[in-house]
Formats: sequence, C-alpha cells, structure tokens
Amino acid sequence: MNRFNADLVNALRGIVSDGNWQCIGEKSLFESPCTKLYAEDREHVVLVRTEDGRFWAMDSSCPHEGGPLDLGDIEDLGNGKMALVCPWHHFDFCLETGISSTGLQNQVYEVQVVQDKVYINTQNALSLFPIPETNTVPLGRLSPQEAKSSASENSLCSWAAKILCTADPKEKVALTQEVQDKWNSGKITEVGEMEPPVHPCRKESLTVLQPGKIKRGKGGTLASRIALLHSLANIEQWAIDLSWDIIARFSSARLSTGESLPHEFFNDFVKVAGDEAKHYSLLEQRITELGSFFGALPVHNGLWQSATDTSHSLLARLAIVHMVHEARGLDVHPQTLSRFTAQGDSKSVQVLEVIYSDEITHVAAGLKWFTYICSKEKRDCLTTFHELVKKHFKGYLKPPFNTEGRKTAGMTEEWYVPLVKPSN
Ligand code: FES
Ligand SMILES: [Fe+2]
Ligand SMILES: [Fe+2]
Repeated sequence: MNRFNADLVNALRGIVSDGNWQCIGEKSLFESPCTKLYAEDREHVVLVRTEDGRFWAMDSSCPHEGGPLDLGDIEDLGNGKMALVCPWHHFDFCLETGISSTGLQNQVYEVQVVQDKVYINTQNALSLFPIPETNTVPLGRLSPQEAKSSASENSLCSWAAKILCTADPKEKVALTQEVQDKWNSGKITEVGEMEPPVHPCRKESLTVLQPGKIKRGKGGTLASRIALLHSLANIEQWAIDLSWDIIARFSSARLSTGESLPHEFFNDFVKVAGDEAKHYSLLEQRITELGSFFGALPVHNGLWQSATDTSHSLLARLAIVHMVHEARGLDVHPQTLSRFTAQGDSKSVQVLEVIYSDEITHVAAGLKWFTYICSKEKRDCLTTFHELVKKHFKGYLKPPFNTEGRKTAGMTEEWYVPLVKPSN
C-alpha cells in the first residue's frame, strides 16, 4: 500500500470510529419497503428501502403523536424527494432530511451499504428482534362493550358510559351537549361511580384500516385538505370519548390523602368534552361543505392505545393524553393553519382557530389537575411528569415546540425540554 492509500485508510478508520456505524445485516434481509429496528431506549428506527434500491433511516415513532412510521407509506413528494407518510394523520417526513411539510422534524440517520452489508450511523444499539411490550391492544375494529353500572341513571358517570357506548358521532355530540347543559344548569348534580367500557363504540360503516393502507391526496389539493380535516375530525371523536372516559374511570379515584376529586375536576372535564364535541361538529360540517362526509375516508384506532396504557393511573392519563398529546396538537397548529391559509381556505382557517384556542385550555386543565394531585400527594411535579412520560410514551418528545402556545397553557420549557432526545 502506498503512502497516500495508507493515509486514506487511516483517515477513513478515524471517521468510522468517530461515528457510530453499526452493521445491521445483509442487504438481502431488507427487501421490504420498511423494516423496524428495535432500540434499547425504545426510540426504534425504521429502515426504508426505496424502489431504486437506496436505503434511508429515521426514528420510527412519529414526532406528532407517536404513530408507527414503520407502517407508513412511501410517497414521492414531486420535488425529486421521497417521504415516509405516517399512517395515523398522514404527516410526511422527507427521507433525506426528516423535515415534514407540517413543520415537524424527525431524526434521520445516515445509511451506507458496503459489500452488501447495511450500516447505520447511530449510537443506539439496534436489533432486528422485538423487545416485548406489555399492555398493548391490537388495532382493528372496536367492539361495543357493556359498561358496568353502580350509579343512578341521572349521574354524570351513567351519562358518560352511555355516550361512550354511542357509536354514531352525531348522537355522541348531541348527547354530550345535552349532558353539558344539564350539568351546568344543575339538572345533573351527582357524579356517581361507574366503570366505563373498555373501548368506546364506533359505527360499523366507519372503515377502520390497518395502518399503512390509508391514502391521502397530494399536498395542496382539495383532496388533501379534506383528508387532513377528516383525520382531525377522527381525533376529535376520540377526544370526546377520552373526556368522558377520564370522568367515569376516575370518578371514584382517591388521592393518597384519602380525598376524592373535587367537583371542579368534573366541571373542567365536562367543559373539555363539550369543546371536543363542538370541534367534531365544526370539522364535520366543513368536510361536508367541501363535498365529502365523515366516514368517506378510512380512519385508524391507534388513539385509544394511550387511554388503555394509562387506564390504571389518573396522573399517567393527565400526563400522556392532556400534557403530551394535546400539547403536541398545539405544536402542529401553526403549520396546519398556514397550509389552509396558503390555499385561501379561510373557512377552514376559522374552524382551526376556534379549535386551537380551546385546546390551549385543555392542556391547561391537564396541567392544573396534574399539579393539584402532585401537591396534595407531596410529589415533585416535574420529576413525576418526566418519569411518567418516559414510561408510557413511546420515544422522546421532538421539537419544534409551539413555545408560545404551550406557555399560554402554563406549560413552560422545564416540563418538556428534558424529554427531548439528547443529540446523536
Ligand atoms: S401524523 Fe403521525 S401520529 Fe399523527
Ligand atoms: Fe379538540
Ligand atoms: Fe382537546
């Protein structure tokens, strides 16, 4: 070997050892478009193989709300770039940069193929074999469940269970508004106790597809706007159920001090339920105005997973559903809004603005009751929150954050910045 070659080899050795290149196996193992690679810290990676035979890698947990990107679709962005599209709400993530047109950003990793072996540059040790997870509920069509009753018929919890068991979203909305009026005017005063159904009911005609099978229109078209509004309406339908579920499931919860939850807790979540019903109606109406209807597109059921994962603990429920997922909704708002603004769809913009200002109050409600319980139980709020998120949320939280919106809700940076992935 001449001097130049020897220097080159040494320099390359340095680059390889300074990086974190690891061989994940023979190229022939990765024929399918997406392969999930499991990481010890649960920030799993998806290896993507595009039709031209090139490989790409990014975190498999969607930066939006943790959807499974390894079940996503590969889509041509039309600018010479390819994207991986999340099956849950169809956010796109450029394979090269991880940047999404929604304003979010996913972590990407360099991939190299050398002598038919695939190498990824990441410090996380990756494995082709799954690490068993507990408490998972398979996706698929939900089945109605009978709620167990131990409350009078006119208690808040009986109504909550009835709404959860109502499959038609229009009826769900109407009942929610009726119960909100009755609660606010004192026609319902008893909270009662009730074990809610394991799953809320859904209309049989609503097509629930496995992730990865949902198609969306190209960005900027009417079809893509309808698809986005449709997926938001689906989120709002689940949000109605999550509000009634927290009311019924934790109606008999006792703090470690022996105290039960104050009346104000139920006031706040009845208000949240009412807001979510309003959001669903506004979106459904807008989809209809645009020439479609709710149910025209397939939806997914992944959103109930976080309810199931946190059904044992009110603190975990408040942390994950209201302080992580609902706060994430605030993060994506500015970009969603600018998409509709750019297309001159001022009516949808108005709807999104109404939803946004209400959602700030929902994050605030989550935070309020989380800190209330922590202070009663003499727990450190921030430490408790960070521990619960690490335990129950798949993956790290990812910037960009809507710092202003989060701050308006009372959620300052010390709540979420420590949950961001340390740089690779
Ligand atoms: S787009 Fe991926 S979780 Fe919402
Ligand atoms: Fe909402
Ligand atoms: Fe909400």
